[in-house]
Amino acid sequence: MKIFVAGVCGFVGSSLARWFQAASDRVSVFGVDNLARPGSEINRSQLRSTGITVDHADVRLASDLENLPGPDWVIDAAANPSVLAGVDGRSSSRQLIEHNLGGTLHLLEYAKKHGAGFLLLSTSRVYSIAALTQVPVQVAGSSFRLDTGKALPPGLSEEGISEKFSVAAPVSLYGSTKLAAEILALEYGHTFQFPVWVNRCGVMAGAGQFGTPEQGIFSYWMHAHAARKPLRYIGFGGAGYQVRDVLHPEDLARLLWLEINDGCAGGERVFNVGGGSKNAISLAGLTTICDKHFGPHVPQADNRERPFDLPWIVMDSRNAKDRFNWRPTRPLLSILEELASHARHHPEWLELSNGLASLPAEEFCA
Ligand SMILES: NC(=O)c1ccc[n+]([C@@H]2O[C@H](COP(=O)([O-])OP(=O)(O)OC[C@H]3O[C@@H](n4cnc5c(N)ncnc54)[C@H](O)[C@@H]3O)[C@@H](O)[C@H]2O)c1
Repeated sequence: MKIFVAGVCGFVGSSLARWFQAASDRVSVFGVDNLARPGSEINRSQLRSTGITVDHADVRLASDLENLPGPDWVIDAAANPSVLAGVDGRSSSRQLIEHNLGGTLHLLEYAKKHGAGFLLLSTSRVYSIAALTQVPVQVAGSSFRLDTGKALPPGLSEEGISEKFSVAAPVSLYGSTKLAAEILALEYGHTFQFPVWVNRCGVMAGAGQFGTPEQGIFSYWMHAHAARKPLRYIGFGGAGYQVRDVLHPEDLARLLWLEINDGCAGGERVFNVGGGSKNAISLAGLTTICDKHFGPHVPQADNRERPFDLPWIVMDSRNAKDRFNWRPTRPLLSILEELASHARHHPEWLELSNGLASLPAEEFCA
């Protein structure tokens, strides 16, 4: 089985490529990347040394995919994955759409041409910002938790945000490119008769993740804490109560493998994939873990409220559990332990992923 990964030098793409290459002798992995993400070039030689073929290509250009060999499965992990992309002045809105939506279009044409299956990595950011800012929370210890005494909107429960949660705009430009890509992918699969799976991923983290304040936040926070760089709790009273659940990319790989091997033609195609309530932690909680590893380092409070900041995102992945008997296996503490070990051994990591070289600390966006 030949698996093609677009964005193969990114954090998730490279993790998936390694996992699939090791999963079975029957699998061979190849991929492309345009190396736009600072740090991604490191993964190119590492992947090649494990027998994975890596070519330079830009998915915005249909012609870059023309001469590639035919795969059995296409994994679309090439994107500008930041919620601030297209609005922060570092990339234009048109560029964002060309990468994230135009790129998916060309990958769908590539899958169609070769009759390959298609796995789209989507995001929790397809869910409505207006609805997410209304999620009722109360403070418990040093984090927000869902206030179940209040009326909850459709698709929200103590298990988290399910696929039934509102996707009404605004969802951010980034979220809109992914939502549009989802619809396009499902439509292509239906029209041209190839299997498509859409995975709405929550926050992922693990060793080797590039970290900036706006993307790869767990990696950023751990490395910045270890290096004694300034950190800020922005918004929500400046206390760091905002909560995210965390998933290790190995757990995502296991789900994609189940999807690849699912012979069933019908049924649901869109799944939330996240660490869930057991793997949820606040920024203040994350700081406490960092303190244990590296000694105390106090983030500054910053009361600014910003449009894309959300108090509580936990992914309800019960549909994936029901369909595939899948559940995350990597506990929160083991993921954070892995990140801490990486931070200890790679003090240069933030500069390498451009986290501090070009971005001011106050741009943190959890
Ligand atoms: N990391 C997370 O927490 C997370 C959460 C939800 C969804 N996702 C999704 O997972 C996917 C991978 O994210 P990631 O965290 O690995 O990001 P990443 O930035 O580490 O990896 C993306 C890779 O795609 C490459 N790329 C970007 N534009 C390209 C183009 N036009 N042509 C070819 N390559 C291109 C980049 O160079 C980079 O190596 C994205 O689609 C993202 O939206 C990630």
